[in-house]
Amino acid sequence: MTEPVAMIPAPWSPDSWRARPIRQVPAYPDPAHLAAAEAKLHRYPPLVFAGEARRLRAALAQAADGRAFVLQGGDCAESFADFTANIIRDTFRVLLQMAVVLTFGAGVPVVKMGRMAGQFAKPRSADEETVDGTTLPSYRGDIINGPDFTPAARIPDPARMEAAYFQSAGTLNLLRAFATGGYADLHEVHRWNLGFIARSPMADRYRDLAHRIDETLGFMAACGMTSGTTPQIRETDFFTSHEALLLPYEQALTRVDSTTGDWYACSAHFLWVGERTRQPDGAHVEFLRGVKNPIGIKVGPAMTEEELLALIDRLNPANEPGRLTLISRMGAQKVARILPPLLRAVRREGRRVVWLCDPMHGNTVTTAARYKTRSFEAILAEVRGFFDAHAEAGTWSGGVHVEMTGRDVTECVGGAHRLTEADLARSYETFCDPRLNAGQSLELAFLVAEELKARRRPVAEPPAVAAQ
Ligand code: PEP
Ligand code: CO
Repeated sequence: MTEPVAMIPAPWSPDSWRARPIRQVPAYPDPAHLAAAEAKLHRYPPLVFAGEARRLRAALAQAADGRAFVLQGGDCAESFADFTANIIRDTFRVLLQMAVVLTFGAGVPVVKMGRMAGQFAKPRSADEETVDGTTLPSYRGDIINGPDFTPAARIPDPARMEAAYFQSAGTLNLLRAFATGGYADLHEVHRWNLGFIARSPMADRYRDLAHRIDETLGFMAACGMTSGTTPQIRETDFFTSHEALLLPYEQALTRVDSTTGDWYACSAHFLWVGERTRQPDGAHVEFLRGVKNPIGIKVGPAMTEEELLALIDRLNPANEPGRLTLISRMGAQKVARILPPLLRAVRREGRRVVWLCDPMHGNTVTTAARYKTRSFEAILAEVRGFFDAHAEAGTWSGGVHVEMTGRDVTECVGGAHRLTEADLARSYETFCDPRLNAGQSLELAFLVAEELKARRRPVAEPPAVAAQ
């Protein structure tokens, strides 16, 4: 094992990313307009507090040490058009159901993070899109431009940052109310199953589990533990996260925490750097280096051991557990070959990280009818490959990261409903990548709970790590 290389860190400031090479930058036509929008956001209140981000970091440290499991999920891209209470409630509700399945089914605490309240910016593989001979700039997420295929919609507009800020604030407000205002009380476990989820093939299985939870709650009440006495029954912790892609927006919401004097990105509790922008010397890594939030790195099939260790040391030089989450997104075909050496290298070097499985982004295919989709079987195969790789390396499978919605969409094929390519046209609503629908999400949670339960055994101790 080697110590993180103790270099004198270069000075960091919220704008030091501006001197670095940067990818995925929108071509804003008017720099003065952009600067004015940034200045406005800079005056607005933060969306989250440093203390909350620290609490999440502590929860993730438990996952890094094999004592908790992380569930991170939500839209590929949130949208201005789909901003309603029901959509937020449905996604939150399915995440709660999944968390209960994992907690009760596998007996591990679950750290819950939504890809919600800020997941608006999308990296694109091509800068332009051509349809029927017309070429326009690609859609980059509602915080940047519009999805309609018209020249006007595709012009990046800085005013969209403000709209995204207010939508994030509204979403976060409702999520906080749900998490602490009674909706997430475990006594409501049956009610989370109402609506169309009640007709999904997973509903009976869920009802069964909810009955067992009721019995347990009855027993606990008889022992004196009720919603009134035990906040853990009445409330839940729910955190927000998104890809830190649009750095002018992130910088404008970066603030000094008055308690510690540290910088925090206050647009969400957790931010990650995507597969396309994770260059160790690039702007996005530079920005994330200096904020104290817990952060993530997407780890795709091209990642080498050297590059991964360099990124880890740049982003977590003190090797603090909970600071860094590695989100593996290899694809079902590649995970067994590529992930184990990376797991072993990180373990050998004693780096304390959480490993999550994103079984979505390595398994996207386009159908003959031009729908982007993912098969439930491939998603499951990647999750199983992830668990196998950890079993082989003696490391802890720390959680899953999924694109899902609480709505009854038809975007991914397979699952208990046996959706086929022909079904995709029925309810294909995503603004970006295909999501698991409510039933498929619940099904995945049951399968993950089984894997967790079957494989749970003491995690091999990481090599001793010198104190920072
Ligand atoms: C995403 O999470 O939506 C995404 C674009 O992922 P990746 O960076 O892994 O491709
Ligand atoms: Co996506």
